[in-house]
Amino acid sequence: MLLYKVKDFKELSRKAANIISAQVILKPTSVLGLATGSTPVGTYKQLIEWYEKGDIDFSQVTTINLDEYKGLGAADVQSYRYFMNDNLFNHVNVNKDRTFVPNGLTEDPEEACKAYDDLIAACGGIDLQLLGIGGNGHIGFNEPTDSYIKATHVVTLSENTRSANARFFASMEEVPTHAITMGIGGIMEAKKILLLASGKAKAQAIYDALYGPITPQVPASILQLHPDVIVVADEEALSLL
Ligand code: F6R
Repeated sequence: MLLYKVKDFKELSRKAANIISAQVILKPTSVLGLATGSTPVGTYKQLIEWYEKGDIDFSQVTTINLDEYKGLGAADVQSYRYFMNDNLFNHVNVNKDRTFVPNGLTEDPEEACKAYDDLIAACGGIDLQLLGIGGNGHIGFNEPTDSYIKATHVVTLSENTRSANARFFASMEEVPTHAITMGIGGIMEAKKILLLASGKAKAQAIYDALYGPITPQVPASILQLHPDVIVVADEEALSLL
């Protein structure tokens, strides 16, 4: 595991964008596993800036997102598809037909989850998976549980996660109760993982994930078993190390 300690969110965003950009330059047909949430926003902004300068070309890239709220579609501003279009895809030359986010409006979630895992396999697996981390240690929407779930699946969001994400909704009642998430298998099968963490609210989760026992109660702790993980975290997120 390679750990980069950076000063703050700005440095974190630059370092993460550097790593993603190196991946795409070295392999223009990369399959990028992407995340939403506040943490990668600065990274995406930096990538857009470099794209505008002509330093990075997304034309042959495929992207596969970690998760989507159940019940929300591309037109919903809180959906993760909308977030990705708005924060990255609309501003770079990625082929939108090769950007994948789980379908939150599916009428057959079981089939949609299976199809998502088949899609990852058909793309040849994920070259670089970008991850944020929940205050409770979740990755994707793999919440603390008694056992790891390998496949893409429907998850009941914890109250902790729903309140953490309530800031994006008008009220707590509007926060979806369920989501579709890539499973721990899909994440762990990525060839390389880039985990980002910023701010004090992530300090305990990062400490537990990197130094605690490997347990599904701290889903990110499984990353200790992955052979190629890069962690980029700021001083506040690393304050308990
Ligand atoms: C988002 C995702 C989540 C977030 C995590 C941290 O696609 O899978 O695991 O990465 O909830 O969210 P932020 O970055 O908003 O603190």
